[in-house]
Amino acid sequence: MSESTQPRRFELPKTMRAAVARRYGTPDVVAIEEITVPTPGADDVLVHVEASSLNALDWHFLTGTPYMLRLMNGLRRPKRIVPGADVAGTVVAVGAQVTTFEPGDLVFGECGGGGCSPYLKVAAKHVVKMPTGVSFEAAAATPAAGLTAVQGVRTKADLQPGERVLINGAAGGVGTFAVQIAKALGAEVTGVCSTRNVDMVRAIGADEVIDYTNDDFVSGGARFDVMLDNVGSRTPQENLSVLKPAGRYISVSGPKENLWLDPMRYSARMWWACKRSSQSFAQFVASANADDLAFLGELLASGQLIPQVQRTVGLDGVAEGLAEIGSGHVRSKIVVQPSA
Ligand SMILES: NC(=O)c1ccc[n+]([C@@H]2O[C@H](COP(=O)([O-])OP(=O)(O)OC[C@H]3O[C@@H](n4cnc5c(N)ncnc54)[C@H](OP(=O)(O)O)[C@@H]3O)[C@@H](O)[C@H]2O)c1
Repeated sequence: MSESTQPRRFELPKTMRAAVARRYGTPDVVAIEEITVPTPGADDVLVHVEASSLNALDWHFLTGTPYMLRLMNGLRRPKRIVPGADVAGTVVAVGAQVTTFEPGDLVFGECGGGGCSPYLKVAAKHVVKMPTGVSFEAAAATPAAGLTAVQGVRTKADLQPGERVLINGAAGGVGTFAVQIAKALGAEVTGVCSTRNVDMVRAIGADEVIDYTNDDFVSGGARFDVMLDNVGSRTPQENLSVLKPAGRYISVSGPKENLWLDPMRYSARMWWACKRSSQSFAQFVASANADDLAFLGELLASGQLIPQVQRTVGLDGVAEGLAEIGSGHVRSKIVVQPSA
């Protein structure tokens, strides 16, 4: 191996400053702490995090809700203490079994948590190389929300060119990706959002935008092939009433009125309503699928997908960003630069 092709070596600190939540609660439990820089396992890469982003997932892990989540994340205290389910950065070390990356590679992907720290250990299979010409900020805004959107409109709905899709909750993380991906797949897109987001949802490609504070997508009379629901703001019967006879209802999220029973209770009601109709129902939990991530990378590189970033913050902005997500009305994505 010539000197120029040898992997670069990075000097790594022993500790780092990170945003940490050591107990379940509201965003005021988030503190900036000095923690140990992780060591990658055999199948991991260690990434210097240039940027991460916040997702609804981070709110669920912070608050420990719905309560079922605590069965896997710790009943009394969270196992996952650093928020940030997305990562874009530079590989600084690789595990013994990793052959796909080497130090110096630029990667992005979904890491499940830990992005709000300068160094992150992540399974190599959960990251892919960054597309050329795409910023760390844009790449970090994409994985969790973009994967959910791809798996909703492409995998679950099998959305076809020319079909009509209704995206409820078009202004949030998942929604802003779903609008653009549905357009890239050749669909006719109607987005639902509040007044302040109408211009943004139209600007990212929606053919029609329904402002739910003034208009009602249920009583409007339009019929869709697919409804991608990021909110769960209507009853099962109302959702099915906007679909064509062979329409597909895809649930990304449901109401959160009962933190013990939702969203399962809503899913059961939706499933039962579909059993008695010609329309179909699917719900899913997004996965860190490398093929889908690569697809997102292609859309980013071609400019068909432009992540909407409302602001970029340092570690001291993480708590406020999480609070905004918890309000249920965050606009698009909040990116975090842990080393800023
Ligand atoms: N199944 C999965 O694997 C999966 C993956 C990711 C996320 N999720 C879930 O999916 C949901 C959406 O995620 P996200 O990341 O997009 O959340 P987000 O970024 O927090 O966005 C929420 C959006 O919902 C909109 N909204 C609130 N009330 C609405 C209403 N009545 N009608 C229409 N839009 C409304 C808000 O827009 P306005 O301000 O305009 O109201 C806001 O932009 C979350 O509940 C999350 O937990 C599930």
